[in-house]
Amino acid sequence: MKLCMIGTGYVGLVSGVCFSDLGNDVICVDKNIEKINLLKKGIIPIYEPGLSELAVKNYKNKRLTFSSDLKSAIKKCDIIFICVGTPTKKNGASADLTQVFNVAKEISSSINKFKIIITKSTVPVTTGDEIEKIISKKNNKKKFSVVSNPEFLREGEAIRDFTFPDRIVIGTDDKRSNKILRNLYSPLISKGAQYLSTSRRAAELIKYASNAFLATKITFINEVANLCEKTGINVEDISIGMGLDKRIGSRFLRAGPAYGGSCFPKDTKAIISTADKYKTNLSVIKSVVKSNENRSNILLKRVFGILKKKVKNKKITFLGVTFKANTDDMRDSSSLIMIPELSKKGAIIKYFDPTGYKKEFKKIKNVSYESSIKKCIEGSDLVIIHTEWNDFKSVNFKNLVKGKKPIIYDMRNIYSKTKINAQGFKYFSIGR
Ligand code: UGA
Repeated sequence: MKLCMIGTGYVGLVSGVCFSDLGNDVICVDKNIEKINLLKKGIIPIYEPGLSELAVKNYKNKRLTFSSDLKSAIKKCDIIFICVGTPTKKNGASADLTQVFNVAKEISSSINKFKIIITKSTVPVTTGDEIEKIISKKNNKKKFSVVSNPEFLREGEAIRDFTFPDRIVIGTDDKRSNKILRNLYSPLISKGAQYLSTSRRAAELIKYASNAFLATKITFINEVANLCEKTGINVEDISIGMGLDKRIGSRFLRAGPAYGGSCFPKDTKAIISTADKYKTNLSVIKSVVKSNENRSNILLKRVFGILKKKVKNKKITFLGVTFKANTDDMRDSSSLIMIPELSKKGAIIKYFDPTGYKKEFKKIKNVSYESSIKKCIEGSDLVIIHTEWNDFKSVNFKNLVKGKKPIIYDMRNIYSKTKINAQGFKYFSIGR
């Protein structure tokens, strides 16, 4: 099948590359010509393990092409995926749909034969209806169908999530489109993915409700972790004990810093905003947002406690600053709150991240990047393990630290307290 992905951000690029690997002809389109030129040279602008190899392979065998000519790409393709950004509106909480609607207008003037137009971008309920209205201004409704097909890819795990999804959600009432899309996804369905056919609006809401629910699960266990710290309980026992109940499930019950990234913070706010529009109170999700926004304060208080409130001139190391491992993404990472706050209090901060220097800290006083774990830890009073990169999972602190032994605050519960204590280090973690 001939597919066009509009937008070569995270969703569009990963999906486009993976669809081409399944044997489809894919054109990835972006109005950013510089980006397209880099992609043509095999330079992938995002950090995603395995993506570059897969893109180069399919580009070489000509199943994957890159272009900035949207009109021509639309004309050549049968299925058009809208994969542009839907950021939070400036001065608001709802999703900014400008890019989605602009693309819809462009599509409307290039329809030459029947097209399936799919929103993969995360869009609020009824966006599909709006897109349909825009396109039908210039086209007969028989010449196109607007479908919702949300993505459930995690950064850092995106290729595996694309290849082995739990479910494929297709929101449309159009039987013809449904049949074509079931066929498109048949290689994944035959490997065990559930194909769920729903109304378009339901598909749109499934995406938001899923992200909001996962955010709730994390926030729930983070709050339980606070209680565990006061009662001498190991939160990991709680996660295992709860997770063994199949109705609950064990995943996304890892306590840690505030959840971040480009999705949970944005999507929880957007679903609340949609509900407000329909005069519905999503009180649980509102509490989740509030609790998560306060999470970094709670962890900072713990840091102050560990340092006995003497933060000024203390040397603090951050191992990992991205919002999670296997990504270079800094969006809504809790380090963006904690590092500036500690700097304000007079701490001298060094950080190391496997994805390198971060411009986000450029203007923050007394914050510097180190190119290795060893250099970063040297002379430190407190080492904070902020992100769960594999690189940090078997650090031999005893061998690495020659002089003064820093305190270790493991915000991802990577290490065991007994083992670290046995090496002569003071050790703190989350909920245990
Ligand atoms: C999330 C969803 O997991 C994907 O299904 C969805 O497609 C994607 O958003 C999206 O809407 O595009 P992502 O933001 O890449 O994916 O990352 P997650 O792995 O979900 O992690 C989000 C945050 O939750 C991170 O800060 C992570 O550290 C935190 N987290 C996750 C925990 O604190 N505990 C956990 O047990 C799991």
